[in-house]
Amino acid sequence: MSSIRLTKTINSRMKIKASLFDLDGVVVDTACYHYLAWKKIANDLGFDFSEHDNERLKGISRMESLDILLEIGKIKVDFRTKEELAATKNSMYVSYINKMTPDEILPGVIRFLDELRNEGILIALGSASKNAMSILDRINIAQKFDVVIDGNKVSKAKPDPEVFLKGASELGIEPQDCLVFEDAQAGIDAARNGGMHIIGVGQPENLKNADHVIPGFEKMNLDLLRSWYP
Ligand code: BG6
Ligand code: MG
Repeated sequence: MSSIRLTKTINSRMKIKASLFDLDGVVVDTACYHYLAWKKIANDLGFDFSEHDNERLKGISRMESLDILLEIGKIKVDFRTKEELAATKNSMYVSYINKMTPDEILPGVIRFLDELRNEGILIALGSASKNAMSILDRINIAQKFDVVIDGNKVSKAKPDPEVFLKGASELGIEPQDCLVFEDAQAGIDAARNGGMHIIGVGQPENLKNADHVIPGFEKMNLDLLRSWYP
């Protein structure tokens, strides 16, 4: 896929001209597959890894996640072992995502993406994951995004705003006219650092500094968006 596929000119009269979606935990619940794979790594190293601990890993890169995991387990390893552990985790994760189907797209996401497109609001994916494109292909949703920025295209992980700023720039929209949907605190901070509007997806206690927090997309629609960003 080319990095840009603008099918529509911007015709929205809304304040928000572009939307940027995180992938894991926003479009699909791959957060649980990341968790299962990291938990197996932790257990094999002899310590437990709780869902509460897993919140710290959401939104950040694979190697940074491993650093946090090892810190939780109070384990020190050399660089080569770290690379092996990260590769083992990724192959477990890939075996989970290779079984994904479009049924795993979270409720309301497709309908809401279509509403945004019909309104003329551009749509980008902004994910830290290097597996983002293969997930989009597996769940047959790649064509819904005008631009995809993933972990292969950025050098600085969230909370650095690079992933979202690149998305905005490829869409040709100023950051202040962009709205980010994120399920991770690192992603909320990245959007905030990029000067964008932010809707958190999940539990408010895990998502500080979002403009608004929604539990998911089932009740999300353009009328609500207009009322929040008039
Ligand atoms: C993010 C996830 O989307 O991608 C993180 O929230 C994950 O948990 C990161 O570590 C990197 O993913 P991957 O697929 O490149 O290991
Ligand atoms: Mg996420």
